[in-house]
Amino acid sequence: MTLKVQGLTKAFGSLVAVNNVTFEVPKGQMIGIIGRSGAGKSTLLRMINRLADPTAGRILAEGIFDGEVDVCTLKGSRVRRWRAQCAMVFQQFNLVPRLTVMTNVLMGRISYHPTWRALLMMFSARDRAFTIRALQRLDMVSHALHRADELSGGQQQRVAIARALVQEPKILLADEPIASLDLRNASIVMDALRRINKDDGITVICNLHLLQTAKDYCDRIIGMRKGEIVFDGLPSELNEAMAREIYGVGEHGAGEPADDEVDLAFTATQTAESAVDRVEESKERVGAGR
Ligand SMILES: Nc1ncnc2c1ncn2[C@@H]1O[C@H](COP(=O)(O)OP(=O)(O)OP(=O)(O)O)[C@@H](O)[C@H]1O
Ligand SMILES: [Mg+2]
Repeated sequence: MTLKVQGLTKAFGSLVAVNNVTFEVPKGQMIGIIGRSGAGKSTLLRMINRLADPTAGRILAEGIFDGEVDVCTLKGSRVRRWRAQCAMVFQQFNLVPRLTVMTNVLMGRISYHPTWRALLMMFSARDRAFTIRALQRLDMVSHALHRADELSGGQQQRVAIARALVQEPKILLADEPIASLDLRNASIVMDALRRINKDDGITVICNLHLLQTAKDYCDRIIGMRKGEIVFDGLPSELNEAMAREIYGVGEHGAGEPADDEVDLAFTATQTAESAVDRVEESKERVGAGR
């Protein structure tokens, strides 16, 4: 499936959260969207998923319905079909806490059934097979009968990705999927997204706070600033000057303080693993100094 985002704009009153954004997404790419808080990253993903409607512009999708369709004009069952094909993963996982892992993932199959069967949670053997396979791929099958609220954040996110996978999506949207996770779990989740992208050919579009994560995992980086795309290219093309432009270094009074975010974006220049090593090393040093 290919996606053409054309002149997409979203205004909230006088605030233009996404401003005339245009880009194309070929099948199978893994794209990282980066930018400061408030740059419009979530609003952009929400419009693609039809959780928000644009003020102007189009999102043309080819390969799901007959020919090329503007997903912003879809209604009723076609919106549901689009949402199933365009699965979304969130920073806060959005699992149902008191349900088991298995049931949470089965919920991803709901769009394949009539409402009455879904309400009665009548899932087929095929649905269960899909669910088990997805849990196996995310190394979560041993937790299938645990309640979602018994899991760690990293485990919950893996369940949320399994739920997205059983939707059999063509595209996976992830809005800050690792922002609530520690470094180790963050790399487990990013590795899983990358594997799904490579092995299944599912297009992944992922909002990320850290520039380095985008560089480590993505084929392409889109940098947003104040609702606009200011960079769209290969990770290797994103030099420090451009990164400063995206993160607005040296600019004051643009909402919340930029310094923390900029520090975070720049200092996390190591892979998650080497960071873990460094934490371990420093713990040892502290221990030895006692
Ligand atoms: N429902 C809404 N009503 C009014 N303003 C909104 C709404 N949603 C987002 N905004 C505003 O739109 C702008 C872009 O928000 P958005 O959440 O897309 O940014 P973001 O890049 O995802 O930021 P973050 O990194 O903090 O998640 C912000 O100024 C935000 O306050
Ligand atoms: Mg956001």
